[in-house]
Amino acid sequence: MQKRIMPLERRGITTSRLALGCMKLCGGMKATPITAEEILIAERAVDAALEAGITMFDHADVYARGQAEEVFGEVLRRRPQLRDTIVIQSKCGYRVESGSPKMYDFSRDHILRAVDRSLARLGTDRLDILLLHRPDPLMEPEEIAEAFDRLRETGKVGHFGVSNLGADQIRFLQEALDMPLVVNQLDLSLGKLDWLDSGVLMNRTIDQTVRFPEGTMEHCRMHNIQLQAWGSLAQGRFTGREMGAGGTEAERLTSERVGQMAREKGTTPEAIVLGWLMKHPAAIQPVVGTLNPARIAACADAVRQSKTMTREEWYELYQTSRGHEIP
Ligand SMILES: NC(=O)c1ccc[n+]([C@@H]2O[C@H](COP(=O)([O-])OP(=O)(O)OC[C@H]3O[C@@H](n4cnc5c(N)ncnc54)[C@H](OP(=O)(O)O)[C@@H]3O)[C@@H](O)[C@H]2O)c1
Repeated sequence: MQKRIMPLERRGITTSRLALGCMKLCGGMKATPITAEEILIAERAVDAALEAGITMFDHADVYARGQAEEVFGEVLRRRPQLRDTIVIQSKCGYRVESGSPKMYDFSRDHILRAVDRSLARLGTDRLDILLLHRPDPLMEPEEIAEAFDRLRETGKVGHFGVSNLGADQIRFLQEALDMPLVVNQLDLSLGKLDWLDSGVLMNRTIDQTVRFPEGTMEHCRMHNIQLQAWGSLAQGRFTGREMGAGGTEAERLTSERVGQMAREKGTTPEAIVLGWLMKHPAAIQPVVGTLNPARIAACADAVRQSKTMTREEWYELYQTSRGHEIP
């Protein structure tokens, strides 16, 4: 078997196989003052991540309306030696502000302003990677290029990427840029299968609900763009979260099979769910959104599971979760 090399590594960007998602720090999208307990939760999550070998941390300016970055900045201030040993990625371009409609904003001025604010909240002088959060229909690639040039020249951002963009949108933007886009972060998991179904259902009309631009996985692989998976734990749907009456039969069966495989292999359900994602040859980097130290630890064995999971096991999980056999 070929050794999987992550696209980020190929570009000389040192990273970990998993990243820790910081969206839920300070309570997600709620805006309440930061408490001592929230700082403690952040510190414990960071410690558990480092212990599990995770050195990349995924942020966005919009998470908890800035407070997720702020509380992480507090952790950094308490441990100044940490900054140079981790990769900090943040996102901008998604605006949720009171008194204004929700919007996406890839304008030059907004990008520059957003990065300055993220740096101030994090208490650092640079973001290792900056992603554009969600496609802005009003985007002007030349304006984005101006902003990126300025951010690179001033050393405020090391590398640039996108999130939730399809192949055509990436090509459109890349055309105007002097630097490569190095990341595309998408909703990919055992619970969200459009990224696989869009290819498998080629030339079929049986499922009209797939919304995944064809060729996106291939484009990223061909152009050395790191695919990152948000929602990678499927919010715990297959790893023990109580689903109550809301769960589907496919979810119940997948959850059962994941648990059984974990027991047979002497590992955790989280490692099976993430290992399944990481077996894909794109060397996907899962972004795990749990802040629970025990759950973060349970993710660590995913790398090993991705290497030992058989093709039969992979297809079995895929089809159990999609609820139908592939054509
Ligand atoms: N680019 C984008 O548009 C985008 C969108 C969404 C998220 N993201 C990024 O991706 C990261 C992960 O996304 P996500 O949080 O949606 O995905 P996730 O990792 O699939 O889900 C994490 C959530 O599921 C809960 N959970 C996991 N296992 C559980 C279990 N067994 N029982 C109960 N609860 C369980 C966690 O709670 P506990 O903390 O209690 O474990 C946490 O709230 C975010 O932090 C963010 O960095 C990016």
